[in-house]
Amino acid sequence: TTAGDDDYTEYLYKILVVGDIGTGKTSIIKRFVHNIFSMHYKSTIGVDFALKVINWDPKTEVRLQLWDIAGQERFGSMTRVYYKEAVGAMITFDVTRASTFEAVSKWKADIDSKVTIGPEEKPIPVVLLANKCDLGKEGFIKTANEMDKYCKDNGFIGWFETSAKENLNIEKAARFLVEHILKMD
Ligand code: GTP
Ligand code: MG
Repeated sequence: TTAGDDDYTEYLYKILVVGDIGTGKTSIIKRFVHNIFSMHYKSTIGVDFALKVINWDPKTEVRLQLWDIAGQERFGSMTRVYYKEAVGAMITFDVTRASTFEAVSKWKADIDSKVTIGPEEKPIPVVLLANKCDLGKEGFIKTANEMDKYCKDNGFIGWFETSAKENLNIEKAARFLVEHILKMD
């Protein structure tokens, strides 16, 4: 959605945040939007929403409507409804739990089968977040090269090691996704 006059433009983008249970979606969003973090785990029920306003440049404002979808929803029947009109997504996994990485391709397939952009029905851009990188990585040993290849093979625009706890790379990942979306506009 675009509004504005000759010299100022506001964009509103619906962004999905998905990934398995407890991988840090809510924590990433809370860090990104409010700059807070808690070790206390309160599982999301259904979906939550947050708005992040980015002053992109003096002539551009980007509003991200973040859809924080419960990991549990992968087994539900609501994702098609939640995904409607999204223009980008982040998929999270927890670097300490390999099973959450195995679920990444399932989330990606779910998104690609239920939401597309434009008359050409192109897949929406998706960025991959390897979260909790402040912790050890016993359950998940992949090199940066292997991750690059994984992204290329599976249609991710890129990947970032993130930590909601230590506020690492979350903003960078979001900016990367927005840049991609702006270019498609
Ligand atoms: P669901 O809503 O159940 O799908 O989970 P979620 O993906 O929203 O996970 P949530 O953000 O609730 O985080 C789960 C747990 O992991 C919480 O105890 C968080 O404090 C913790 N956590 C999240 N991100 C990080 C991180 O970057 N580092 C560490 N050490 N812990 C994290
Ligand atoms: Mg949550």
